[in-house]
Amino acid sequence: MMNRVQRAAVGLSALGLLAVLPLTVMADAAAGKAVYDGIGACAGCHGSDGKGDGAAAAALDPKPRNFAEATFAYDTDGDGATGTDVDLFNVIKNGSAVYGGAPTMPGRADIPDADIQAMVEYIRSLAM
Ligand code: HEC
Repeated sequence: MMNRVQRAAVGLSALGLLAVLPLTVMADAAAGKAVYDGIGACAGCHGSDGKGDGAAAAALDPKPRNFAEATFAYDTDGDGATGTDVDLFNVIKNGSAVYGGAPTMPGRADIPDADIQAMVEYIRSLAM
């Protein structure tokens, strides 16, 4: 049995976790933006704000996804839902052609998984 002090400690640490979690997600999104703008070079197609309006977008069909709309096409793991975190991760890592999409969305398996994950958080943060 927990005594009152232990129970209070458990309660406090649970509160602490809740307070820390959104901060962690925000940190990931910021790190993701740095990758997106930097080595990812995603902005050239998806735009610097992720609205699908990068310099190359006009010449592309299909258009690069507008992340503000948060509408995604591919169910990469066959779980019946498109655009889950796993799906976004897989499309960024492997490109969309292997999932039946356009070869103009390049795979970036050269980017470390943690950085791809951070870009997924960033893309989520752009949804309106
Ligand atoms: C050369 C242009 C280009 C670059 C560079 C590019 N994309 Fe894309 N992206 C596209 C196009 C075009 C599509 C739509 C592909 C399709 O419909 O098959 C797309 C689609 C996507 C999707 C949507 C997948 C879905 O299920 O709908 C995500 C997520 C994405 N890109 C992320 C990124 C990230 C992150 C980067 C940078 C690492 C990046 N893209 C770089 C052109 C590009």
